[in-house]
Amino acid sequence: MTRVKIKEILSLSPQGQEVIVKGWVRTFRNNQFIALNDGSTNNNLQVVVDFNATEETILKRITTGAAICATGKLIASQGKGQTVELNATSVQIIGDSDAEKYPLQPKKHSLEFLREIAHLRFRTNTFGAVFRIRHSLAYAVHKFFNDKGFVYLHTPIITASDAEGAGETFAVTNFDLNNIPKNDKGEIDFKQDFFGKHTNLTVSGQLEGELGAMAFGDIYTFGPTFRAENSNTTRHLAEFWMIEPEMAFYDLNDNMDLAEELLHYVINYALEHNKEDIEFLNTRLLDEEKQKPQNERSELNLLEKLQFCVTNKFERITYTQAIDILKESSHNKKKKFQYLINEWGVDMQSEHERYLVEKHFKKPVIITDYPAAIKSFYMRQNEDGKTVRAMDILFPGIGEIVGGSQREERLDKLEARMNAMNIPTEELQWYLDTRRFGTCEHAGFGLGFERLVLFVTGMTNIRDVIPFPRTPKNCEF
Ligand code: 4AD
Ligand code: MG
Repeated sequence: MTRVKIKEILSLSPQGQEVIVKGWVRTFRNNQFIALNDGSTNNNLQVVVDFNATEETILKRITTGAAICATGKLIASQGKGQTVELNATSVQIIGDSDAEKYPLQPKKHSLEFLREIAHLRFRTNTFGAVFRIRHSLAYAVHKFFNDKGFVYLHTPIITASDAEGAGETFAVTNFDLNNIPKNDKGEIDFKQDFFGKHTNLTVSGQLEGELGAMAFGDIYTFGPTFRAENSNTTRHLAEFWMIEPEMAFYDLNDNMDLAEELLHYVINYALEHNKEDIEFLNTRLLDEEKQKPQNERSELNLLEKLQFCVTNKFERITYTQAIDILKESSHNKKKKFQYLINEWGVDMQSEHERYLVEKHFKKPVIITDYPAAIKSFYMRQNEDGKTVRAMDILFPGIGEIVGGSQREERLDKLEARMNAMNIPTEELQWYLDTRRFGTCEHAGFGLGFERLVLFVTGMTNIRDVIPFPRTPKNCEF
């Protein structure tokens, strides 16, 4: 006989068949009822122990957190809350858990506390649901692109370029930090470093992705990216995963269509394949909302919000239109924004993004054609000489979830912009070569994976949707 996972057991019709289960004890009641979980589903299997026929020493070791193996017959349950249960004929202890010391007690713990014991939090209902959904979303991303014939390109983690040009990178070196080699001028001599030059962890795979698109047509990356921005917010991580498709012969409209289709697809995928987990999180959120005053509660619950998102087209407006809406808003006039919108050209803060999405349009919004001055060097320049073919997708409760653009494919324009922004062209000759040899219209975007998981799970802090978050002054586990 082989072990059967609890998810499968719970779908069987009980006919007294013999099964073996292995998992971790969540609770043990009345020396008789074990709630057993093996991670395959949020639902526990009720294992009923015959305490008269079981040794006292074994009963004592059935404690919260212990790993056990139970063999028995599957029968219809008399009790409330489950349809089947396992009538155990034998229980073996695989790994003991000292109930006094085990940090997870059978009660509700705060998310903050669970973050401190992130090595154990997968064993809670909430994090079980979150990380099964995260898995499904990752799978759905690959399936979406695979079905469309995109090539999954592995772009490098260590690089000598700073793709976004924002300078917020983590250096990579194997210098002895107590004895860093200097040259005649007293500067750090990177020639002596491992790669013979200054290197860092990638902030984006886009530039290398563009090289792939110029050969395969359609590619995507899906990997970790790193940013040393000192933003201690609920939406920023120093290490996060990003999905970056890059497509030849696409303009900005094609790019927006693809991004919208991708988001609809992956959210739908989770709704279909993670029904139980989403319903669990929905209930959890509703309970939390009850603690809030009526006017602070969300209009839609999690399920409704996800349904709404997949059935409605996103609003598409230009940056200029967005600024006009914000400038004229009663929020701005009553000085309710921390940063008031007075002029064209300012970067939007998250309060403005959220106003547009949550108050004004009440649905996801795509903003296009941003001022060139606040966007990266590679974006295609518009005829007006002021704006670029950029697009950001803003989601309710999240703000920016996608950032992308049509790329500047004209060599002269691209070089002029790089010079104006003091981006050294010598180091990016390989990138400029795509504009020299068979250049073409192309576009792409980056979807922040954790922001997507935040949205689908309804969690509010990005630290709770990545297994081991890296944030300023925090690198545990
Ligand atoms: O807007 P960003 O910086 O765009 C790029 O990196 C482009 N190279 C993408 C491209 O066109 N291929 O980042 C893209 C997305 C953001 O919209 C956001 O969802 C996410 O990545 N993101 C972060 N997520 C978590 N923590 C951070 N510190 C993030 N910074 C960006
Ligand atoms: Mg961005």
